[in-house]
Amino acid sequence: MKKLLTIAALLALVSCSTAPKLSEAEQEAYKFADKLIAKMTLREKLGQLQQFTTSSADITGPDGVQRDAEACVRNGEVGSFLSIRTTEEMHHLQKVAVEQSRMGIPLIFGYDIIHGCRIIFPENLGAACSWNIEAIEHAARIAAEESAAFGFHWTFSPMCDISADARWGRVSEGAGEDPYLGAKIAAAIVRGYQGDDLASDKTIAACVKHFAAYGAPQAGRDYHTVDMSEMMFRDRYLPPYKAALEAGAVTVMSSFNDFMGVPASGNRWLMHTLLREELGFTGFVVSDYNAVHEQVAHGTAADGKDAAQQAMNAHLNMDMVYGDYINHGEQLVAEGKVSESTIDQLCREVLAVKYRLGLFDDPFKYGRQDHAEVMYRPENLQYARQVAAQSMVLLKNSGVLPLKEGTKIALVGPLADAPRDQLGAWRGFGEPEHSVTIREGLEERFGRQNILYAKGSDFRAPIKGGITEALRAARKADVVLLSIGLSCKESGEATSLTDISVPEPQQALLDALKGTGKPIVVLLGTGRAMDIRNEVDKSDALLVTWHGGTMEGAAVADLVSGDANPSGHLAMSFPYCVGQSPIHYSMKTTGRPRNGIEHNEKYLSRYMHAPNEPLFPFGYGLSYTEFDYSDLQVLTPEVEMDDTVKICVTVTNRGKYDGDDVAQLYVRDVVAQTTRPMRELKGFERFSLKAGEQRTITFELPTSSLAYCHTDHSFKTDPGTFKIWVGADSNATLEAEFTVK
Ligand code: BGC
Repeated sequence: MKKLLTIAALLALVSCSTAPKLSEAEQEAYKFADKLIAKMTLREKLGQLQQFTTSSADITGPDGVQRDAEACVRNGEVGSFLSIRTTEEMHHLQKVAVEQSRMGIPLIFGYDIIHGCRIIFPENLGAACSWNIEAIEHAARIAAEESAAFGFHWTFSPMCDISADARWGRVSEGAGEDPYLGAKIAAAIVRGYQGDDLASDKTIAACVKHFAAYGAPQAGRDYHTVDMSEMMFRDRYLPPYKAALEAGAVTVMSSFNDFMGVPASGNRWLMHTLLREELGFTGFVVSDYNAVHEQVAHGTAADGKDAAQQAMNAHLNMDMVYGDYINHGEQLVAEGKVSESTIDQLCREVLAVKYRLGLFDDPFKYGRQDHAEVMYRPENLQYARQVAAQSMVLLKNSGVLPLKEGTKIALVGPLADAPRDQLGAWRGFGEPEHSVTIREGLEERFGRQNILYAKGSDFRAPIKGGITEALRAARKADVVLLSIGLSCKESGEATSLTDISVPEPQQALLDALKGTGKPIVVLLGTGRAMDIRNEVDKSDALLVTWHGGTMEGAAVADLVSGDANPSGHLAMSFPYCVGQSPIHYSMKTTGRPRNGIEHNEKYLSRYMHAPNEPLFPFGYGLSYTEFDYSDLQVLTPEVEMDDTVKICVTVTNRGKYDGDDVAQLYVRDVVAQTTRPMRELKGFERFSLKAGEQRTITFELPTSSLAYCHTDHSFKTDPGTFKIWVGADSNATLEAEFTVK
């Protein structure tokens, strides 16, 4: 007992002695929290560390023990709820909390607003393909405003997990495979949600998830073990989480997976040493759904009590759903396994966020507005349409797109008129009845009489007479638009796949339509990268529409008609086949790189019957016009350490259409202390050029952005030569170099 007390006391001491620096706002919030804590019982403090759902809430994980939510609130045994679906229920529970619980502490309500609340934007991987950071920030702002009007204070977003494995369904929730792009997007989303004033009734708290490395489960199977070196973690996985924290995110979610052998929720190195001491995080951490208790299934905790002890001492503030904190906290303190000062610290951090959200000033200020006035604002719908169009990626076009006026279109496929599926996974409060489907979008743009619709097939099963009906439509039309891919149920959490090709019945539909000789435009709806060799082969054009959200259909009509010009670029490589997974452009060379050697290849790093390269690389995307990149110049061929490298390139629109493109800068450290990626994205600029127009783009590259994790885990830039490439995808060929002295 004495020994345990000493350990607990020591842990408490560690957390105090190395506490991160607090801003003025945080100091004020902590002071306020401390005054409350002084008056709270241990059980009330534990209550602030407990989050539950209610019986009418949206269930997003295995069912927890059903509790009387109202009684828990009244007794001060819960501080937060997730996934409640009505403003009324939240309002009611808040009233019980402030009027009937002894301390009157307001509840904090969270929800998975992942890519929109009422207005649903494209799934995050799609939006990332816009490379439009401002638009992504603005979309998050719209989502925050709608959520706050609903009554939510907090969203479990952004998901900052880098992943290069298309078998993992949750790639749809992130920004793709690249840490640099991922970091820019993560920070933008946090800015969008939180704005400059967390206490405003138009902003909500962000939650950086899933900390950490959840995007690298073995074999792409969700919730599976993650095993990687600290070096790899710091170089590839940490940057988006870090950027989101630097943007001011006030909460973090622990991931389900283990990390270096210890489940994240009980991993003190992650939750305290890295997050608090190194990254200076001062907000609170919520576990993922039941993740505290799941340490038992992981085999690192004996029971719920042990699980709570490990999580509390790891510095995890809030237990999502299961109840281990409230069930065992008092006993743990009584036995000296967790110190009361640790509980105080965990509680202080939760209360401080509630304070900063303004909940103590007015617990009802969120969720009071008239919904109808805030939701579905026409200008916001218009914005969603534009974001959806900019997200879509044209991967092939033999010239059939854009369609000519008056074209008769056979519109076929399970996603052509699928108002629910186009909203994707985590649709928030999106309503299928508000979706503009592809069918509706095309009918509006081309006239109803010009659209011949036939579903043709279900996602994974043929429909009786479906192909015959589709062929009939195709024969009467000038062109076939074939809207195929994956349903919303095959995107997001718990949707791992071992086959990432378009399901067989839909391929059969494509094969049959090909027989008509009509030009075929494939519209690929998906939340992940896929093996699309067959679709590329058999189509005349292929546009990845993703699950494009509420306005998907209008955006598709804008693009196929040429009213808008495709400008999306892949944020995730499309593999040649599933066997290449995980695959990303920034892989390392190995000691036996292939490098285009054509003979005696046996002992090189390669596959026997497939290429090493993906079918479409990261950064790739076509336009109706042609962009030309020339005159790459390094204006500062030699720089001192801590200087900025200046690089410029000329971009010219040589085609007939105005358009947008994304200039991308890739770098390689030629000789480094550790093995480095072949290329790494270090800058990009989305730009617009009118047909025939030309301009110069300048990149400024601080030498600090070339830093990487060394063998001693220090993060620094080496002097030496760096190669660069600039162009419109990760295979860019314009090449130059510079030296850091
Ligand atoms: C997911 C989280 C989500 C949470 C709450 C979990 O199953 O992994 O991303 O925020 O549920 O819904």
